[in-house]
Amino acid sequence: MQPRPTSARAAFLLTKKNKMRKVFILYFSLVFFSFSCSRKDETTRQRIIFTDNWKFFLGDIQEAGNPEFDDSGWRNLTLPHDWSIEGEFSREHPAGSAGGALPGGIGWYRKTFSLDKADTGKQIFIDFDGVYQNSEVWINGHYLGKRPYGYSSFRYDLTPFLNFGEMKNIIAVRVDNSLQPNSRWYTGSGIYRNVWLIKTGKTIVSHWGVFVTTPEISGNSAKVNIEVKIENLDPEVKSIQVNTKVYNSENRLVAENSTKDFSASSEKTISEIVEIADPVLWSVETPALYRAVNDVYADGILTDSYETEFGIRFFEFDSEKGFSLNGKPLKIHGVNNHHGLGALGAAVNRRAIERQLEILKQMGCNAIRTAHNPPAPELLNLCDRMGFIVMDEAFDMWAKKKTKYDYHLFWDEWHKRDLADMVRRDRNHPSVFIWSIGNEIREQFDSTGIEMARELVHIVKEIDPTRSVTCALTEQDPQKNFIYQSGALDLIGFNYKHTEYLDFPKNYPGEKMVAAENMSALATRGHYDMPSDSIRKWPPAYNEPFEGNDDFTCSSYDNIHAYWGATHEETWDIIANNEFISGMFIWSGFDYLGEPVPYGWPARSSYYGVIDLAGFPKDAYYLYKSLWTDEPVLHLFPHWNWSKGEIIDVWTYYNNAEEVELFLNNKSLGKKKKEKDQFHVQWRVEYQPGTIKAVSRKKGETVLKKEIHTAGVSAKIELQPDRENIHADGCDLSFITVKVADENGNLVPDPENLIRFEVKGEGFIAGVDNGYQASLEPFKANCRKVFNGMCLLIVQATQSAGEITVSASSEGLASKTIILKSIK
Ligand code: GAL
Repeated sequence: MQPRPTSARAAFLLTKKNKMRKVFILYFSLVFFSFSCSRKDETTRQRIIFTDNWKFFLGDIQEAGNPEFDDSGWRNLTLPHDWSIEGEFSREHPAGSAGGALPGGIGWYRKTFSLDKADTGKQIFIDFDGVYQNSEVWINGHYLGKRPYGYSSFRYDLTPFLNFGEMKNIIAVRVDNSLQPNSRWYTGSGIYRNVWLIKTGKTIVSHWGVFVTTPEISGNSAKVNIEVKIENLDPEVKSIQVNTKVYNSENRLVAENSTKDFSASSEKTISEIVEIADPVLWSVETPALYRAVNDVYADGILTDSYETEFGIRFFEFDSEKGFSLNGKPLKIHGVNNHHGLGALGAAVNRRAIERQLEILKQMGCNAIRTAHNPPAPELLNLCDRMGFIVMDEAFDMWAKKKTKYDYHLFWDEWHKRDLADMVRRDRNHPSVFIWSIGNEIREQFDSTGIEMARELVHIVKEIDPTRSVTCALTEQDPQKNFIYQSGALDLIGFNYKHTEYLDFPKNYPGEKMVAAENMSALATRGHYDMPSDSIRKWPPAYNEPFEGNDDFTCSSYDNIHAYWGATHEETWDIIANNEFISGMFIWSGFDYLGEPVPYGWPARSSYYGVIDLAGFPKDAYYLYKSLWTDEPVLHLFPHWNWSKGEIIDVWTYYNNAEEVELFLNNKSLGKKKKEKDQFHVQWRVEYQPGTIKAVSRKKGETVLKKEIHTAGVSAKIELQPDRENIHADGCDLSFITVKVADENGNLVPDPENLIRFEVKGEGFIAGVDNGYQASLEPFKANCRKVFNGMCLLIVQATQSAGEITVSASSEGLASKTIILKSIK
């Protein structure tokens, strides 16, 4: 939902209150009305990114909300900003390892800005997509309010307090993330999402005031219901009219409608139905989007033009057949992700989110659960465009806490507002299919869960009755689960205990089910412990000691999981073979900061991801790719640098083939095929240096070949950018994979070289990482050690077009320089 920029002329018409008003209106209404109907780029609403030129101070200064306060000594920065990610790891930080072992605290942001005289008379709002947490905002010394929940988006009306022309305005934001722990994972701190300045006229579509639904879809037409809430703040306006136009993804007008004039009141909701012939349905393969434009006319003058993107699709959860989209069965292949973006911390960056989704899409993933909170709007916009189904989740706890200072403290006062705001904000996204009112909520275990669940579902349904509401539960005994007993859920979500799912049809007759969270399998990229076929629970049970690895690693064969979880293969076996299960969400897609089960300090990020914190796939990623895509896969592991005579388990994940043959130095070690319920094949091999090779075959024909050579000594650095040309917009990123290779280009699997980076020209270093869960090196730095042969450099574009020269060097290795282009 991104309304387009305004026409200053129309805004002027709207707002200028002087003697000439009536004359202007008379004259312009004739000229302008005809224009407005034919020219869609002329609008009266401006949505301006408001992220440049902020000042920041880490610490608390009582007077900083005062406009006279001198902030000249503060740091200049551009939002979004996360101060925690800039900090040093320490076991002393109150967030603990579970929170990422990074600092919290209190921080202040201030921005000085001026407004054109021509803006006088407009409504001016500030929209915060998210501030973690406990933000308080002042404009020119006037206190606007507080928002405790760090994941909610919110708006303040600045209009009554603003100065226009010469006199400046000062907005000040205090962010308090000092009371910790307040989360079970890394949250980040600060104004970590985007901020917008909204300028409108006085007769407008209200905040999140449009709701588009598609009540009837048939093969050759779709009815689209567009509900618009109009707010009128101009007492002189007598009548209002709303014109609606719908455009398809090629920007072709496909439907239009207009209301009759209705008499102006301060608030009114109108509903329009338009019909679209031959609709292109939104699906995960073809995520077709439409755009509704609502033009609001007050006494014949265009006063607002508001755009809403939506999709046309229908879906169903069935107690026997699982999920279907547009009438076709679709197994949900989902992942859970927290909001963090690795080395960038919580600071939202559209490209960083897009990269995550690209990596997941290539794995065959088709669904995201926004664990366990409302996501950044950018995530949903991208899911709409890239074709992901989203479970949009509100809370990780209700009134009963999980950590000492978490949201339970705000529950009573804020839960209604936070939940309603999430649904109102996100209800037009075609990607959103499921609302989740919570994750592993304590109230499922006692009778308070009954009324609370009913209340929350009621809040959701009042705003959006079209989607399924779930809650991610752990208690699978229906008698003992009070949230289930509320009878309020449309869809029963279960986390873990996958073998109990088999009793679901018996225990929950007629109910629909999705596995909201599974696995919690553990792995460190590129690390392998032998043997691979004994399953390890790390830790074995609650608080039980276990012997892990001295270097805080977990083997990357799919054979370690938390005691409440299971391996990937074991879980998928049950999900895949039971039609009534709509699908599942892996815990987790990416590793994230915090929750470093099974270790404590110095481990500080999770082992659960099928992709590491730097965005490099672990081996299990290829398991899913082999199961969830049609693309031919033959993934061979581990690396081939061991001690002579060691017994090494060699695995392959493959698809599109009947068998795989393994060769060591060209000698066949035999053919193997996956038997029923097997998802990989394995050979036990006595190590000899040389080449290990796998060949997959179908009907005797080779499908794919994979070879891994024993690497020689580290000789050179390789740099592989994910994109060589990026946009010169100050935000775009190139993610550069850094590898240490031998002379022949083989990845050396175990060096620890410190790589130094230099970035010159129109770019700068946004972050570095290597995916190692116990690395205590900073993310904001110009150097990084490689871990298991690899690390990541993230380069960000400036706002000027030009070349970006990226050099990497390390003692004893041949350096490497590449040139990226930043383009306007
Ligand atoms: C689940 C929880 C997740 C995460 C996961 C780790 O119980 O819902 O947030 O903590 O465990 O295994």
